[in-house]
Amino acid sequence: MSQVEDIKTKIDIIDLVGSYIRLTKAGSNFKARCPFHNEKTPSFNVSPARQIWHCFGCGKGGDVIEFVKEIEGVEFFEALKMLADRAGVELVHEDASAKNERTRTFSLLEDAAKFYEEELAHSDFLALNPLYGGSDASPKSECARSPLAYLRSRGLIDETIKEFRIGYAPQEWKSIFNHLLEKGFKADEIECAGLIVKSQNSKVAAQNYYDRFRGRIMFPIFDALGRVIAFGGRMFPDRENEAKYVNSPETNLYQKSKVLYGFNKSKSAILKAGECIVVEGYMDMIMSYQSGVKNVVASSGTALTADQLKILRRLSEKLITAFDMDKAGEDAARRGIALALTEGFEVGVAGSLSGLKDPADAVRKDPKIWKDAVKNSRHVIQFYIDTALAKFPASSHEAKREFQRTVIPAIVSLPDLEKAHWIKQIGKTLDIAEEAVWEALRKLQNPNNKLQTAENEIKQAAPNDRKLLLEGKILGILAQYPMLADKVESNFEPLLQRKGTAAVFAELFLNGAIEAETELAHCQRELKKEYLKARLENLSQIMREAEKNGNGGDRNILEFQRLMSELSKMQ
Ligand code: CTP
Ligand code: MN
Repeated sequence: MSQVEDIKTKIDIIDLVGSYIRLTKAGSNFKARCPFHNEKTPSFNVSPARQIWHCFGCGKGGDVIEFVKEIEGVEFFEALKMLADRAGVELVHEDASAKNERTRTFSLLEDAAKFYEEELAHSDFLALNPLYGGSDASPKSECARSPLAYLRSRGLIDETIKEFRIGYAPQEWKSIFNHLLEKGFKADEIECAGLIVKSQNSKVAAQNYYDRFRGRIMFPIFDALGRVIAFGGRMFPDRENEAKYVNSPETNLYQKSKVLYGFNKSKSAILKAGECIVVEGYMDMIMSYQSGVKNVVASSGTALTADQLKILRRLSEKLITAFDMDKAGEDAARRGIALALTEGFEVGVAGSLSGLKDPADAVRKDPKIWKDAVKNSRHVIQFYIDTALAKFPASSHEAKREFQRTVIPAIVSLPDLEKAHWIKQIGKTLDIAEEAVWEALRKLQNPNNKLQTAENEIKQAAPNDRKLLLEGKILGILAQYPMLADKVESNFEPLLQRKGTAAVFAELFLNGAIEAETELAHCQRELKKEYLKARLENLSQIMREAEKNGNGGDRNILEFQRLMSELSKMQ
């Protein structure tokens, strides 16, 4: 029997597929909504007798290997290896591709994670030792406290720290760099993995790099199979003028928009519960998990993307968000929620955290606060309604305005009957004719899809084009809504002189001045980032030149740091 056959006989297709998506029995077969295309009624079939799967909707199908290839997005050999692991079969011939770049990067990142884990334990030893200015010296100062002690003080137990492989990057310039060089990795490999940064200031090639993460608590970010693909680093101890979090850049293995923090740990709990909870931060995810609420992932502070939502949607129908809806991220949160509704999720918003800042703090205070918050989640539309009514009395015209801005746009993405339900509710609440609500809704009909298309277009554009696209989009918005001109920030005013450029966007997607205003703000923010990046690029060029000519230019360095910190605050 060949190895492939051996592996195939040891894996049951129902077990395998069932560990990714929810299967229901239908006669002698099993059915599900297809994970490979968007559908409301299940046309994805699995046959235990024949050990194959087939989707009558999109036409895809095959055996266990084909399934893993599709769902994990890997090639044949990698799929085979994953199945071999699962079946406990050892592959005899390591394929040549086993030594390829990807594999090396995985093992590099694995070594890095181990290094950071050991540093975390070691730093505790140093801090406790009075010779090193340990915690006895000044118990209140965070500098004197070890990162491990800090993590414990946040409520983490040691078992959790181990389970999530939390580590520490010492406050040194070349610790991980040297460690990985000793392990036999090359500088450019370490750079590609995102762990070191090329310095602008040195002429000596070997000293040309420094560690990206210094003095930071390290959260390894895993792929769905639990392999380390990136890191998020939280500043420790606290320092002024530095971003609280530094994350790995996008690499071959890490695409931010496709990864959810904690998913490798929580996927089975999500599947079992048929429900997933989305929190913002690494600590929120981990503390929730530790408290026993395990069906949780973190969006890592950005808006949920369609890719992330699709991953969750395979396993669950309901999504509960626990975002801080008051802070600057509100826009992003609303966007993510709108997308989730479009993906067919039933969306809820977690209840009150009794005045605590976030889920992590709530769990530390008392796990029950967090559990109750999840239990007391409200339908997102109800949440939007309540939020609007907390601001303005239902009878006021401001309330209607607020509903138009915040409630109606979310209803657009609901299934028809649910739409009708909420429209009726809104008519009653505001004491206006249902027909008026329908009318408001019709005007917005499906801006989400169009918005998404425009958004994707911008994301995929090359950096330079991205600037043009954003500028074009802003001009387009203004062409349609001239009254928004006073919302244009002063540094973008020169743009207004170039109206001809790209008014193609004018008819793109906007169906209401209110949406347009939000979108305008979003575009300006994105454009500001692009400008910042361009200035940084420019400045580093100047600094390189200055270095060559032998003058350092402290002013440039300061300016560079200032711009960097401004940029990191915007990300
Ligand atoms: N984040 C980031 N970059 C930043 C700030 C935040 O990537 N400059 C991401 C991180 O994933 C972080 C999440 O956004 O976990 C939420 O940010 P924030 O609420 O500021 O941090 P907390 O997770 O609450 O961190 P902590 O509780 O340790 O203060
Ligand atoms: Mn927090």
